[in-house]
Amino acid sequence: MTSPNLVKIAYQTLQGGKGLAGLVHKELSTKVMELFSPGGIPVTTPVSKELLKELRHSMSLLEKVDWEEAEQGIYPTTQLFDTPWLDWASKYPLIWRDLPSTWERRKRRNTREIPKNIDPEIYPDYYLQNFHHQTDGYLSDHSAGLYDLQVEILFNGTADAMRRRVLAPLKLGLRRFHSRNPASLRVLDIATGTGRTLLQIRSALPEVELIGMDLSTSYLRQASRLINSRNNELAQLVRGNAEKMPFADESMQAITCIFLFHELPPKARQNVIEECWRVLEPGGSFILADSIQLADSPSFSTLLENFYKFFHEPYYKDYINDDIELRLKNSQFECIKAQSHFMTRIWNAMKPFAN
Ligand SMILES: C[S@@+](CC[C@H](N)C(=O)[O-])C[C@H]1O[C@@H](n2cnc3c(N)ncnc32)[C@H](O)[C@@H]1O
Repeated sequence: MTSPNLVKIAYQTLQGGKGLAGLVHKELSTKVMELFSPGGIPVTTPVSKELLKELRHSMSLLEKVDWEEAEQGIYPTTQLFDTPWLDWASKYPLIWRDLPSTWERRKRRNTREIPKNIDPEIYPDYYLQNFHHQTDGYLSDHSAGLYDLQVEILFNGTADAMRRRVLAPLKLGLRRFHSRNPASLRVLDIATGTGRTLLQIRSALPEVELIGMDLSTSYLRQASRLINSRNNELAQLVRGNAEKMPFADESMQAITCIFLFHELPPKARQNVIEECWRVLEPGGSFILADSIQLADSPSFSTLLENFYKFFHEPYYKDYINDDIELRLKNSQFECIKAQSHFMTRIWNAMKPFAN
């Protein structure tokens, strides 16, 4: 049997390696951009040494809780090592090949370069953009193929650890339905993207019925490939708009939503919250994870402001000032709790039981 200490050291080494790789890539790609696309470099505020120190500390706290919750059995420790190295190694050169078109788009302030074969009628207008200057926006297999690695680089290897923070509140919330057969419980992940959260939920809750929904067929295809590449994993994948979901009233016992809200205009954020309310059964949990905000993380304001200056994130500035808790309260959610983990804030709310 492998000693837990050894596993912990292996995990810390893995995270350290991912973090370093992310930093090196960002440093190198910024230098190359300065060389080849000098006119397109946005003006951002330099990050102080103190802020970097605080950032490193916050990252180490995230890794600590990630390890501790695995040790507590909230998810198996194998989750901590679930990194598709071969896939990412094969995608890395494609990221470099894609960078010049990203720089060009940023330079020309071209934010609506969407594939020609897309029918704009079936998407909300706010969606038809190159979020983070991404080639094709969310609307091609090329974009879906690169997404996971890009996010991993952006967050210095912590993206999955931040996503995993929904698992403890999710399991806790489902205890309200403990008298039922777990196989009868339905958990929905909206804006599921390439499906990494679905795998995490599946490993923590092997028996529940799991549904992933997204607007992008390309991202759902990528999620399908990921799920099919694992033995014994099963999840339904549904194309749909989180503002108007193709699910019956009170048909889910829990809904998770990760990294969607900062890409929605304020009205759409409210619509999604209300739609989650409709689809949840009383007693059900809504667990929302997205960027930290100015009110909860004022010391990280430089980073938050640099983010929307550097990347095309048209709703981020509004999002980091938005009062999500108030939105949840206004939609009648109760037992609202929020916690920050590195760059992610997790809100956990319950649809109350009928009187
Ligand atoms: C930043 S990605 C997050 C994906 C995934 N949850 C993750 O953890 O990486 C945002 C996702 O939201 C999806 N999306 C955006 N607007 C949507 C909407 N109105 N309804 C459903 N999905 C939407 C996009 O297609 C994309 O997959």
